[in-house]
Amino acid sequence: MAFQRRRNHYYHRFRFLIPFISSIFGGLLLFFALLSFLAPSPNVSDHTHRIPPVQFNAASDKAIGVSHFRVPRNGARSGRDLWTSRNAKFYSGCSNASNKFRKANAITHPNRYLLIATSGGLNQQRTGITDAVVAARILNATLIVPKLDQKSFWKDSSNFSEIFNVNWFISFLSKDVNIIHQLPKRGRKTWNAHSMRVPRKCSERCYQNRVLPVLLKRMCQAIQLSKFDYRLANKLETDLQKLRCRVNYHALKFTDSIEKMGEKLVHRMRARSKHYIALHLRFEPDMLAFSGCYYGGGEKERRELGKIRRRWKTLHQVSNPEKERRHGKCPLTPEEVGLMLRALGYGQDVHIYVASGEVYGGEETLAPLKALFPNFYSKETIASKQELENFSSYSSRMAALDFIVCDESDVFVTNNNGNMARILAGRRRYFGHKPTIRPNAKKLYRLFTNRANMTWGAFSSRVRTYQRGFMGEPNEMRPGRGEFHENPSPCICEEARFHVKSDLGPRKNDTTRRRDEAAMVGDDQNNDYEPEWPDSEEEEEQVEFQDKDPFNTSVEYEGGNSEEPNLELEEILSD
Ligand SMILES: *[C@@H]1O[C@H](CO)[C@@H](O)[C@H](O)[C@H]1NC(C)=O
Ligand SMILES: *[C@@H]1O[C@H](CO)[C@@H](O)[C@H](O)[C@H]1NC(C)=O
Ligand SMILES: *[C@@H]1O[C@H](CO)[C@@H](O)[C@H](O)[C@H]1NC(C)=O
Ligand SMILES: *[C@@H]1O[C@H](CO)[C@@H](O)[C@H](O)[C@H]1NC(C)=O
Ligand SMILES: *[C@@H]1O[C@H](CO)[C@@H](O)[C@H](O)[C@H]1NC(C)=O
Ligand SMILES: *[C@@H]1O[C@H](CO)[C@@H](O)[C@H](O)[C@H]1NC(C)=O
Ligand SMILES: *[C@@H]1O[C@H](CO)[C@@H](O)[C@H](O)[C@H]1NC(C)=O
Repeated sequence: MAFQRRRNHYYHRFRFLIPFISSIFGGLLLFFALLSFLAPSPNVSDHTHRIPPVQFNAASDKAIGVSHFRVPRNGARSGRDLWTSRNAKFYSGCSNASNKFRKANAITHPNRYLLIATSGGLNQQRTGITDAVVAARILNATLIVPKLDQKSFWKDSSNFSEIFNVNWFISFLSKDVNIIHQLPKRGRKTWNAHSMRVPRKCSERCYQNRVLPVLLKRMCQAIQLSKFDYRLANKLETDLQKLRCRVNYHALKFTDSIEKMGEKLVHRMRARSKHYIALHLRFEPDMLAFSGCYYGGGEKERRELGKIRRRWKTLHQVSNPEKERRHGKCPLTPEEVGLMLRALGYGQDVHIYVASGEVYGGEETLAPLKALFPNFYSKETIASKQELENFSSYSSRMAALDFIVCDESDVFVTNNNGNMARILAGRRRYFGHKPTIRPNAKKLYRLFTNRANMTWGAFSSRVRTYQRGFMGEPNEMRPGRGEFHENPSPCICEEARFHVKSDLGPRKNDTTRRRDEAAMVGDDQNNDYEPEWPDSEEEEEQVEFQDKDPFNTSVEYEGGNSEEPNLELEEILSD
């Protein structure tokens, strides 16, 4: 990129020089001009190749043989606000139905029922529930309160009304979709529900073509869709998207007892400090084994993770675990997360709430993170066993507590691309773009690998550069891109004031930019396209290493987003 810019720069200079020289000074001066033009270029081309910019001082580090990688205790001194997104105030969630969206009682067919069985952990089930309401709406059917997955990897025997406030759910959506607790009796018998599965990301037309004919058969007026997760297309008409947001962000509330306990935990974090970071660590043995990652723990680690990995018969043994990390497919280690946060400006005094199951390597793995951030909490350390007794043997209720504390946090840090990370990232955008930091694992990996050769200043500057576009700022992701639940752009509206502001300066105003983005995205059905990061070392060096502010929204969407979710991973380890 920098290389390109530099070339342009010379090109303009050159163009400027030609008429100037040829008309006034002639050949001789042209000779001198060219000479002076060429003179600095050897230096510059060195720059664009292997030798890092001077401010990095890497060469001298090596020469002295001393590591200058000393992590400071304090955070950034710059005036930058670490706790809010710049420009967030110009956007707000908007999910009201339009005038032409008809009331449920006007469109619901009598005796047409939709049942669904969700799948996966709490948050995967949440996407299923959200999408089920919309599916019922598409089919003009009455929805039966969804059945939760009690047999997933997470094994939780709770039913819907033990996790979510079911009466609120039904009443909040009453204008949109008719929802009832159970299939009504038909005479003495209940309906016989026909069970089927719809394809992933089924569109409105797909429901009409595949499900509706089954429903219309005389004998079968109730249909059960099984394994219901990600069964609805990312793209739908706006009113259906807004309905999705009403379900996810307003109709789905946890039960009072979960809400109360969650608020208690939030209150305890706030009592300790004004702000806190919530970190979804997801550094669990199963997760690591499944992803086929290797963190340098030698034979012991290979043996342990390999053993877990063999539990999934269909998984091949990983031939090159380094590659998985290099491609950003693995969570950062707790230490790496800590270093990233310090580099982003969060000092030792910052309080961190860690949402996590069992951490691979336990305390030993956590120690470096705790050293960087000694104010380190989890629900187990801020609540008593007794307080958690109604939760601790139910994975979904425990996950719900973490969900609340992470949702309420000032800054949420995800360390994976799982369901909880995605759902919370989308939710936080909707409710005012509260910062959500997603590590740019692909870029950061190489940085962590080479950190011994760097000064802290060089390291932290690069972290900030790489994290631009990964901080949860407005417009970081193109509208329509990625999983809907992560990027609910149809439900985020821009306040009029922003337009006035953006008249200033030569930068593209937001309207224009959005239109460009839309044109770029085009009508490509699959918007999960991922921009290519430069992969070779050489290209890497071309990145300009000036200190960039990761909260700077002029970023051109380079952050991008999740790839197509690893479906198997979703099903087995979804959280
Ligand atoms: C959306 O609907 C709610 C409830 O009907 C109403 O209070 C609110 O003002 C509406 N918001 C907008 C932007 O129309
Ligand atoms: C649902 O009802 C609306 C309004 O009556 C109608 O236009 C639409 O075709 C119906 N769709 C299905 C799948 O029955
Ligand atoms: C959910 O579980 C609770 C407690 O076990 C039970 O009282 C309730 O009837 C169940 N609800 C449904 C719809 O099965
Ligand atoms: C746990 O649940 C039971 C039954 O709902 C209730 O009586 C008890 O007070 C709860 N315990 C705590 C610590 O909230
Ligand atoms: C960092 O140093 C190691 C040896 O100390 C060397 O192998 C590696 O190539 C160096 N990396 C960079 C980017 O200079
Ligand atoms: C943004 O730019 C477009 C095209 O240049 C223009 O039509 C529009 O009025 C601008 N909007 C604002 C708010 O400045
Ligand atoms: C944001 O970044 C752009 C491009 O890197 C830069 O020109 C601009 O000055 C930055 N703005 C702020 C407020 O830092």
